Amino acid sequence: MSKNVLFKLLSLLVVVMMALSACAPAADDQPSSELAVGIVLPTKDEPRWIQDETRFKDALSAAGYDVEILFSQGDSSQEKANVESLIAKGIKVLIICPQDGSAAAAAAEAAREAGVKVISYDRLIRDTEAVDYYVTFDSIAVGAAQAQYLVDHASGTGNPLYLYAGAASDNNAFLFFEGAWNVLQPKIADGTFVIKNSSEAVALQDKATLTRDEMGSIIGQITTNWDFNTAKTLAESNLTAASAEDKGDVFILAPNDGTARAIADAFAADSDVSSYLVTGQDAEKASVQYIIDGKQSMTVFKDVRTLVDDAIAAAVTFLEGNTPEASTSYNNGAIDVPANPTVVITVTKDNVKSALIDSGYYPASDFTGLQ
Ligand code: BGC
Repeated sequence: MSKNVLFKLLSLLVVVMMALSACAPAADDQPSSELAVGIVLPTKDEPRWIQDETRFKDALSAAGYDVEILFSQGDSSQEKANVESLIAKGIKVLIICPQDGSAAAAAAEAAREAGVKVISYDRLIRDTEAVDYYVTFDSIAVGAAQAQYLVDHASGTGNPLYLYAGAASDNNAFLFFEGAWNVLQPKIADGTFVIKNSSEAVALQDKATLTRDEMGSIIGQITTNWDFNTAKTLAESNLTAASAEDKGDVFILAPNDGTARAIADAFAADSDVSSYLVTGQDAEKASVQYIIDGKQSMTVFKDVRTLVDDAIAAAVTFLEGNTPEASTSYNNGAIDVPANPTVVITVTKDNVKSALIDSGYYPASDFTGLQ
């Protein structure tokens, strides 16, 4: 670790400790019912968000601070109720990953009205001015990395390509698809790939840049809704509709790890599929094991520790009355929301050990067959 990085980390730690101890009740004070920061995450049903909860708890308990983390369980009205209960407890900063980007606007507006700073976490809250900051990974880079993997492993022409996307209610699904399309489209146009499961994508395949509506029409046809069962059923019906010539050695753009495993299982079970390459993201443990076992080709590692540290640092900056630094902004349909996106890393069988084990992200004992 360079001196510079070490210095920045130490300074961040000092600022976090100072700010958090300022908000935490002192030992001899009456316990306060006031909470400075509230966190709302979308669902416990996906390992991705359990990762975030764990990393938040690790980071905050290391600083001796109690924070409330609530889950919306895929329900925007539960999400709004969660936000209202945190506002009632006196939070000053809300860190929220919306279940549905547009539906969360009402919750963000309620927080803004109560004088609470709103940090959109990982997913962007859309169609409202009531978002102060966006803590995120570079989601266009995620889609580009997935597509680049497929491009790098394709040779010749006519390779069957199956496209899948996330939930249309999640702004990230558009960013991932946009990043992937930027890389795939020239390779569809030159005949390297042939799209097999989306007439909407075929109709737009000569367009290098798609509008949000155009992406929406494709996503509507290939959405997994971020749901494993939907992903599996869609893949199975795509395979049923495809002829044996549309299969063989196939290339699959899967938007994240949960859906990648579901889609991979469906393709693996089809006797006309001789081999498949499938993308993912999140470095979920089950997918890391799939990669080690050769059942998933890659994942995009989004180091949740960094996202959590960035969110805490932004919250602390707001608590101190300052504005977090931004290197760019994302338009949410109403305003440009300032952000400082974090880089992502492609993980395959070749670098799984160095990227995820040697970096201390996961213990080697969580996996079998690691080289
Ligand atoms: C996140 C992904 C996650 C997906 C499904 C996206 O907004 O960025 O990491 O896999 O939602 O929960």
